[in-house]
Amino acid sequence: MSIHKSARKITTHVLQAMKAKNEKIAMLTAYDYSMAKLVDQAGVDVILVGDSAANVMAGYETTLPLTLDEIIYHAKSVVRAVEKALVVVDLPFGTYQGNSKNALESAIRIMKETEAHAVKIEGGIEVKESVIRILSAGIPVMGHLGLMPQSIHKFGTYAVRAEEQDEAEQLLKDAKLLEELGCFAIVLEKIPAKLAAEVRKNTIIPIIGIGAGSDVDGQVLVIHDMLGITQEFSPRFLRRYHNLSEEIKGAVTNYVKDVRSVNFPNQHEQY
Ligand code: KIV
Repeated sequence: MSIHKSARKITTHVLQAMKAKNEKIAMLTAYDYSMAKLVDQAGVDVILVGDSAANVMAGYETTLPLTLDEIIYHAKSVVRAVEKALVVVDLPFGTYQGNSKNALESAIRIMKETEAHAVKIEGGIEVKESVIRILSAGIPVMGHLGLMPQSIHKFGTYAVRAEEQDEAEQLLKDAKLLEELGCFAIVLEKIPAKLAAEVRKNTIIPIIGIGAGSDVDGQVLVIHDMLGITQEFSPRFLRRYHNLSEEIKGAVTNYVKDVRSVNFPNQHEQY
């Protein structure tokens, strides 16, 4: 029997059990009540209130400008909608780097004000103290390695990470470290599939990929990308399951036409 049928809510323990049974984990982002409700009802295991909200909700070029208050607003809306999925919230840029006390305060604000279930943090050895401190407060932490969009100005490009041996070795060490510290899962973004498979082989916690191939424990995508709402973003790893931008524009065009021609509202659409 599927783990989904025997457990009402997805917890970090359910994810661990899914990995043990080789049952793949489906994760998607959501940032608002209505979308989160649909995503949860469709059976997604983990909903990430990602700092990609900076891009797809606010229109910023990078994820860096998103504030703690803003992600808390999105997360509160998502949590109100969700009945089953595990809700994970990104710690925005500047809310955890370098100062573990600040990291803990940010994570506590997220957990207290949103009632989400876990936080996600970008980085390996460089965020060790922050991860330890957040975990010590009983807050589950998801790691994030590989392409880390909050470090875009260091990387200088959104190209595939860890193709060179040095970076690949460091990534393997970082994944092991995050596991040893007590992270319940790790997201691997845009790295060679072979390296992701190696990370998975060397860890016992769930490894979730985005542009990291199929030999991982689950996949995550940004909902606006997989539904085809965003048009300009087309990396190789992205599978579009719909072309919603065309559907939405078509519907809105028809509405504008109907309003202008007084075809809307008709007799049955008024009092
Ligand atoms: O913010 C986000 O949407 C993410 C995913 C790409 C994993 O971190």
